[in-house]
Amino acid sequence: MRLSPPRTLKDEPGMTERPLSDSPEEQPETHESGPAERGRTVHGEAANAGHRVLAPDDAEVDAYLETALKAPPSRRADETSHPQTIVVLDFGSQYAQLIARRVRELNVYSELLPHDAGWDEITSRNPIGIILSGGPASVHDEGSPRPDPRVWSGELPVLGICYGMQLMAHELGGRVEPASKREYGPALVTAAGESRLLAGVGSSAAVWMSHGDSILEPPPGFRAIAHSNSSTVAGMANGDGLMGLQFHPEVVHTAAGRQILRNFVLGIAGARADWTATSFVETTIDEIRARVGEGRVICALSGGVDSAVAATLVHRAVGDQLTCIYVDHGLMRKRESELLRVTFGEHFGMRLRMVDARERFLRRLAGVTDPEEKRRIIGDEFIRVFEEEASSLGEIDFLTQGTLYPDVIESKTSESKASVKIKTHHNVGGLPADLRFSLIEPLRHLFKDEVRRVGQELGLPDAMVLRQPFPGPGLAIRIIGEVTPSRLETLREADWIVIDEIKAAGLYRELWQSFAILTPIDTVGVMGDGRTYANVVAVRAVTSDDGMTADWARLPYEVLAKISSRIVNEVSGVNRVVYDISSKPPATIEWE
Ligand code: XMP
Repeated sequence: MRLSPPRTLKDEPGMTERPLSDSPEEQPETHESGPAERGRTVHGEAANAGHRVLAPDDAEVDAYLETALKAPPSRRADETSHPQTIVVLDFGSQYAQLIARRVRELNVYSELLPHDAGWDEITSRNPIGIILSGGPASVHDEGSPRPDPRVWSGELPVLGICYGMQLMAHELGGRVEPASKREYGPALVTAAGESRLLAGVGSSAAVWMSHGDSILEPPPGFRAIAHSNSSTVAGMANGDGLMGLQFHPEVVHTAAGRQILRNFVLGIAGARADWTATSFVETTIDEIRARVGEGRVICALSGGVDSAVAATLVHRAVGDQLTCIYVDHGLMRKRESELLRVTFGEHFGMRLRMVDARERFLRRLAGVTDPEEKRRIIGDEFIRVFEEEASSLGEIDFLTQGTLYPDVIESKTSESKASVKIKTHHNVGGLPADLRFSLIEPLRHLFKDEVRRVGQELGLPDAMVLRQPFPGPGLAIRIIGEVTPSRLETLREADWIVIDEIKAAGLYRELWQSFAILTPIDTVGVMGDGRTYANVVAVRAVTSDDGMTADWARLPYEVLAKISSRIVNEVSGVNRVVYDISSKPPATIEWE
């Protein structure tokens, strides 16, 4: 399928271009680390090793579906069309994703490929430039990672960063030596003459270094464009579009880093800077429409932002050919199902099947206290309900999923890791073999914040687009012990108050998650003249960049006081509120 080039609506009245990528708030960490850091779940476990899934909200539901429906793997990336792309070859730096994000902040699409991606694979991405990331290896190590040699041909501009530059120097005949001491941390570089890469940066600049090897002599045809105290060659370039930097322009500690990347991406590679939320939405809708044709599509809405955005894109493309299925398992938060019905059913006019499966789930959860058993039951029942609904719809051609880019990068296979894991857990039979679907994954190249931006562009309510992550098994894993209707009701009310007060204090978006947990503990209290014996509710609020590690939030005492007094006064059956002051690790974010 061919796509028309993305149009820009910048100049039309009333249209404002929303940049897709935002500066990630996270400060990059301060050292290079090896590939071992990657391929991990949000829990820090090796991919597939654990019992939980990668993405916090939608991935689980998607994984259930993929499993249940035996959907074939998505199309290979090289079968899809691509906007102008800066390809980042990943040599194992923990900053590799950050480089791609920085490029995207310039409204230019960027994609991460493994360092050994073949030239054909690289060129299938419609590349206009290549960035070689840093990495933990030394060019002198036996078997150290190398790119396809065509990278050095000069056909495309190439920027090597740290290890990427050392490779460039080494492969093209320069002299790279292990440094007598590792240069690590802030450093000052001085420009050596004019260069396009460092244009506008000034004669000296504060940068972030992290390297062992150093370049003593650039390769023939190259000249040094910057020096530092400990690097004779802190930057180099030839006249042919090959250039390198010893320091990291992608991290915030390199103050002029954004300018340098802009010089490379917009100046040297000549990118058009037209990859915006608006252009993404238009292009994606065209692409989905062309692909689906007259076919029929289903999508499971989970209440999370990913499936919401994916469904809305597909709906814009094919209207009533899409049917959304929402399985209400009764483990959602207060008013969540209603928000979903109003938004998708009424406001967007989508074909929406709201399946009231609350009793079924509760029946199967009765008497169950083990957290993993709860997860297993919920996943299993979800599949059953979904199968029943999907089968009743007749012939369906496509299944829409909200798979995100980090899952794609980490899985390294076309099937999501989460689904593989759940498959091993559930060994699900799925639908009859003649019911086969192709996958539509409109978000598979977006980071979470980009998905939120697309959601806003599509007019989804902030309450849906900007919400904190919520686990697939819902409130069931926040009720310690048995899940019963009355305990669910208690938690739902307490949770509502937590969120309400956090929002009222203007803190909702600063926190990764904030919620209540219903403990199985009864304690003595006194209310009026009477003695009470009632439940303890715990409040958890954490800050985090990605859920892998988290710190308990230092909520203002007044906010905690308000939450506590409202919960004990407004939620019957609760007489005590405690605040969880544990960080992850060693605790986890959820209690189960
Ligand atoms: P933990 O508790 O492991 O959670 O620190 C990290 C992030 O993952 C979410 N989480 C889940 N998400 N299904 C999900 O879809 C699950 O079973 C699950 N368990 C935890 C959690 O909310 C947090 O954002």
